[in-house]
Amino acid sequence: MINIAIDGPAGAGKSTVAKAVAKELGIIYLDTGAMYRATAYTAIKNGIDVSDEVGVGEMLKTLTMDVVYEDGAQQIIVNGFNTTPYLREHYMSKAASDISALPCVRYKLVDIQRELAKTYDLVLDGRDIGTFVLPDANCKIFLVASAEERAKRRVEENRLKGQESDFDIVLKDIKQRDYNDSHREVAPLKKADDAVELDTTTMTIPEVVEAVISLVKEKIK
Ligand code: DC
Repeated sequence: MINIAIDGPAGAGKSTVAKAVAKELGIIYLDTGAMYRATAYTAIKNGIDVSDEVGVGEMLKTLTMDVVYEDGAQQIIVNGFNTTPYLREHYMSKAASDISALPCVRYKLVDIQRELAKTYDLVLDGRDIGTFVLPDANCKIFLVASAEERAKRRVEENRLKGQESDFDIVLKDIKQRDYNDSHREVAPLKKADDAVELDTTTMTIPEVVEAVISLVKEKIK
């Protein structure tokens, strides 16, 4: 199996790059952040606090999660319900980051990710793929960019979706999420020792995609 791990903080361009790499190689892209978002969405829908370890643990006992693809787009089905349309709401980012700090959530989702990686050739993006989920991945990339640049990209992304957003608020959210994701106890956001770090602050997306594809091809040739 080919498994390519693309990790890094929020807004570093992981999903755009991972999608392009998967397309180029003709393999599947797995957005692991969406799995944490879907878990957070389900907790909220059931009136469970995303930081309540006992409540979330109870919920997980019967929770089923299926990752399926419709016209190439990933859909996360939780307990038979397609959560995908609800996962990109602004408040879901913080909720996903909070719920992802609970060990019971990480273990459940990491099991699913490892099973998928055993079955399919994948490009996975996340925070802990290279360090924890798949330490033997064929190729590991760690994307970084300054918090200011990532906030600028997020504001522009929102603008293209027709949503106006305040740069200072977006920047504060990004810094808070960086802190949460890299200070949790289990599998925090961290570069794997054998990952190639790429700072995308001054690069355009096509430049990043090109650089990552050539790194991947070099590693898996
Ligand atoms: O990549 P994203 O913004 O969709 O991820 C949402 C949150 O999920 C992120 O703040 C931390 C968590 N996450 C994680 O802990 N591990 C992953 N492999 C992917 C995401």
